[in-house]
Order: sequence, then structure tokens, then C-alpha cells
Amino acid sequence: MDFVMNCLSVGESGNLNIGGIDVSEIAKEYGTPAYIMDEDEIRKNCRVYTGAMREYYDGKGIVLYASKALSCKYIYRVMKEEGMGIDVVSGGELYTALKAGFPPERIYFHGNNKTDDEIELALDNNVGRIVVDNVFELERLNKCAGQRGMTAQILFRIKPGIDAHTHSFVQTGQIDSKFGVALETGEAEEIIVKADSMPNINVVGVHCHIGSQIFELAPFELAAEKMMNFIGDLKDKHGIVIRELNLGGGYGIKYTESDTPIDYDKYIQAVSEVVRGISEKRNVELPFIVMEPGRSIVAEAGLTVYTVGGVKEIPGIRTYISVDGGMGDNPRYILYQSEYEAVRVRNPLDEKKITATIAGKCCESGDILVESAKLSEIKPGDLIAVLATGAYNYSMASNYNRIPRLPVVMVSGGETKLAVRRETYEDLVALDL
Ligand code: LLP
Repeated sequence: MDFVMNCLSVGESGNLNIGGIDVSEIAKEYGTPAYIMDEDEIRKNCRVYTGAMREYYDGKGIVLYASKALSCKYIYRVMKEEGMGIDVVSGGELYTALKAGFPPERIYFHGNNKTDDEIELALDNNVGRIVVDNVFELERLNKCAGQRGMTAQILFRIKPGIDAHTHSFVQTGQIDSKFGVALETGEAEEIIVKADSMPNINVVGVHCHIGSQIFELAPFELAAEKMMNFIGDLKDKHGIVIRELNLGGGYGIKYTESDTPIDYDKYIQAVSEVVRGISEKRNVELPFIVMEPGRSIVAEAGLTVYTVGGVKEIPGIRTYISVDGGMGDNPRYILYQSEYEAVRVRNPLDEKKITATIAGKCCESGDILVESAKLSEIKPGDLIAVLATGAYNYSMASNYNRIPRLPVVMVSGGETKLAVRRETYEDLVALDL
């Protein structure tokens, strides 16, 4: 593969194409910097997951798109059409999804500290499930649901004691996390027994999320095993029947050549086998399975195109290439020292003769997009594409230095459409009084 993203190619003009369209043409029409995404690729990724759920688990489950990866009305409409559910994690994401006409019964509302307003918004709109984080939230939810004469359908966020990082995982008994209730201390069991006796709460399921950008099946298999045994224990000890098992997201993607993702359907296949096995062994009913991929649905479908302003060579030290965006549109380097690949849009497969650091335009030394990128020769005015920026870029963008946020351009069936327009200076002052 020439690029880390499947949906890229080199067109007849010699320019980088996304979804068959020349990136420089898109840049001309919509300006730079801009996020450009291949909608067909996003839909293809959804179908890998939904297809696997049908094939390996007889469709007795749902795949949720974890919309923190990229949240806007357009993407919720795509998810609706693809038969996905969604995971939202704030009133803002929930509101956006509802505004896009997303069916509320397929919305799972997460978050470790939901406010009363958020809980009320969820209940008033009949959101499918609320994933409860802790006992305080449980009590507030029971009260709010009671005031409305409703029963809240909930899952509990459980810490299963597995801590998965890229390329490895450990069983730490990881109770030092702000998310959820711990298994091994008995906290999870206690809260579920308590919830089971509450008048306006129906405990439907349990949930865990073990990490992000994971490239192995084993931690997911272990999480499924632990959670299923927990479901078995709840039944044997308390007669509590758990019908839903939500195993979160975290499936790794290819940011650079050294990343080695596995086929996404394999996760559902592996987890299904474990769940079936334990269900039989422990004599518990086969649960409805929920999976929550975010990054793997959108990351590799998107790139960010920038225009080069200057190329600054510091002899013997480093070359800086300055572009017209930066940490405002992609804060992942400054936050996590994330690695990306970048290419010149013109003849992107030309020999990579230079090593340079692509820097943004913010007043901040750490405002870097790609450190020591290997690139073909670059001159001012060239377009550069940073690849695999479809997840956690637009959704994590800021207006630092009062730089307007970028548009999100979707490419589908050989055409481009705006999903989010570029912010204007007028937008920037719109809230100022
Ligand atoms: N479900 C839950 C409960 C989660 O907390 C997350 C991510 C997901 C699903 C989706 O995980 P994914 O498949 O996207 O890895 N800002 C960070 C990522 C934070 C992820 C937080 N939770 C980044 O830019 O890498």
C-alpha cells in the first residue's frame, strides 16, 4: 500500500486523490486548511462491523459509533442510514444527534459526570440507554426518572481490571480510574444490587471500555470473559438477569507504517466466541452485545490539507515547514506526541528527500503537526496532506489564537459536499457581549 489510508490514490494529474477526487481541486474550492473525508470509506467501515455482528453473532447485538471521534450532524445522518447506534458523551453530542434526526432509541448516553440538565435532556428525549458511572449519578437519575414517571434503562460502567495500551495489555486491577465502578472491590456488585431495587431504574446491562488504539484481540477476549463471569455471578448470587454486554471501543488504526491493525470484524468474531462459551458454561442467557468503535470508523477516512507558508532551515539542526493550520485543528501531537504521516499533494510518491518538522501557526513552540516527517521537496505554496486525521481532530479542535475552525468536506460517489462549513471571523465574535 502506498499510503496509510486506503481511499487515497494518485490521479492522472499526478496529484493526491481522495475518493477519486483531486485534493488540490478540493483545496481550491473550499480553501485550506480543511478536513477532507471519504464518506464511502466511512460507510464501508460501518459495514465491516455491522456485517460481522450478523455473521458471528446472528445479529444479536448493535454496533455504536463512538461519536466523540467526530461529531456533527452529517456524520449522525450517515450512521442512521448505516443502521448503526451511537455513543454520545455529553449534552452537546446528544443535542447534535437529535437535531440530525438520529433515532433516540439507538443512542447510548455515556459520561462520568452527567449533569442534571444532561440527564433530563436524555430522559425527555427517550434515549435508549444511559450508562451510569457511579452511585451519585444513579440516585440523581432515579429521582429525575421518578419525577417523569419513567423507568430509566441503564447499563453500568465497570472497571474490569484490564489496562490495554497499544501493543500490550496488563491486568492491573486498574481501579485508579475516574471512570466507572470496580469489579474486584465488590463495588460493581453492590451498586447493581442497589440499582435493582430502585423504582425508576431498570438495570439492562454492563459496560466496559479498556483503552484505545489497541492492536490485539486478547485484551478484548479477557474483558468479555471477566464481564460474562460477572454476569454469571450476579445471576447465581442475586438472581439478577443482565441482558446486555457492552464491550466499548478501542480498535487500533494505521497512523503510520509501523502500526499493525487487525481486521475489525475479527474483534466481533473473537468476542462472540468467548461470550457464547461462557454463556453455556455458566448457564446464563446469551446477552445482546454492544461494541463502540469510534476511531476505526472515521480516522483512516480523513486527511487535513494545508498550504505551506515558509520553509525555515536551521543549519545542522532542523527544517521547519510552516503551514496555515496547527494545534487548533489537530491537538494530538501537543497532547500525546502522536505520530502522523504527511505527503505533498503534488506527485506524492516522489522520492522523500527531506526530513522536516511540520509546524503550525499558533504562538506556541509545541505547535507541531508532524515531527521529523519524511517528505518530497517542499516549497512555499505547496499543499501538504496530513493523513488519517479523521478521528479526534475536528472533535478536539479549538479556537486558540482566535483561529477559525476548519470546514469538514465529504467526498462521496465522486462528488464533494460540505459537512461543516468553515468558521468565519464573525462566528468567532458571535458569542462576545
Ligand atoms: N466507548 C467509550 C466508552 C470510550 O470512552 C471511547 C473512547 C470509545 C468507545 C471509542 O474508542 P475508539 O474506538 O475511538 O478508540 N482523544 C483520544 C482518544 C480518547 C478516547 C476516549 N474514549 C485520542 O485522540 O487518541
